[in-house]
Amino acid sequence: MPPRQINVVIRKYQPQDRDAVHRLTCATALMGEPCSVFFDGDEVFAQAINGYFTDYEPESCFVAVADGRVVGYLTGAKDARRVNAIFHRRIAFSLFIQALRTGVFCKKKNLVFLTHFLISFFKGELAMPDQYRDYPAVMHLNIDAAYRGSGTGTRLLEAYCSYLRQENVKGLCLATMSGRTGRFFARQGFQLLFTGRRSYLRHVLHKDIPVYIYGKKMAA
Ligand SMILES: CC(C)(COP(=O)(O)OP(=O)(O)OC[C@H]1O[C@@H](n2cnc3c(N)ncnc32)[C@H](O)[C@@H]1OP(=O)(O)O)[C@@H](O)C(=O)NCCC(=O)NCCS
Repeated sequence: MPPRQINVVIRKYQPQDRDAVHRLTCATALMGEPCSVFFDGDEVFAQAINGYFTDYEPESCFVAVADGRVVGYLTGAKDARRVNAIFHRRIAFSLFIQALRTGVFCKKKNLVFLTHFLISFFKGELAMPDQYRDYPAVMHLNIDAAYRGSGTGTRLLEAYCSYLRQENVKGLCLATMSGRTGRFFARQGFQLLFTGRRSYLRHVLHKDIPVYIYGKKMAA
């Protein structure tokens, strides 16, 4: 079936898009389902996932807009090592304070999730190969459920890849937990670099979740 025709404009991220992007981050966190399934505290969750991108490298981010509303985003960064360094040096502590201030640690759902996440960490499930030498750029891509399957994700990805080529970035990688989303990236020329399994959402989903790392080299 051909994609639905929807008038969606792709443009660069602007500071006034921040709230809409962070809201969409929470609404689509778990393979397109809301983060409230496993975590209460939208502000903290969105800041942990997208705080670096919107606040420290907004020039690498794009949004999809329909009827004046943000219906999708691609938050990108040219250098994953810089993302990690800034996250540890500048974001992590303020995130901890924000979590204390907003009562995140007082909620049973969050304590259960954080406990499972720590167990997963100590079991080594979060360890991944260092693919950033060949694929330094990273991204998050999410489309509002009502707008999926209409070409918006493809267009955001094309805009980002063309930006990365202009900036002479040699490769891009990303993580997804969804096999269907993985096939979407494979069709866009990405290669599967790594697969793993994680148990930290077993208490919600009653099964382990897979993690797939995909990478794409940027042709000059
Ligand atoms: C994956 C995603 C970004 C693709 O964007 P999109 O605008 O829906 O995709 P397009 O219209 O450009 O391309 C359609 C393809 O997207 C893929 N897709 C993945 N999940 C989908 C969904 N829930 N609905 C529709 N298409 C989806 C399919 O491969 C689909 O092709 P198919 O219809 O032949 O199976 C979007 O569906 C989404 O946000 N999904 C949930 C969150 C997610 O998985 N984000 C990626 C993490 S990095």
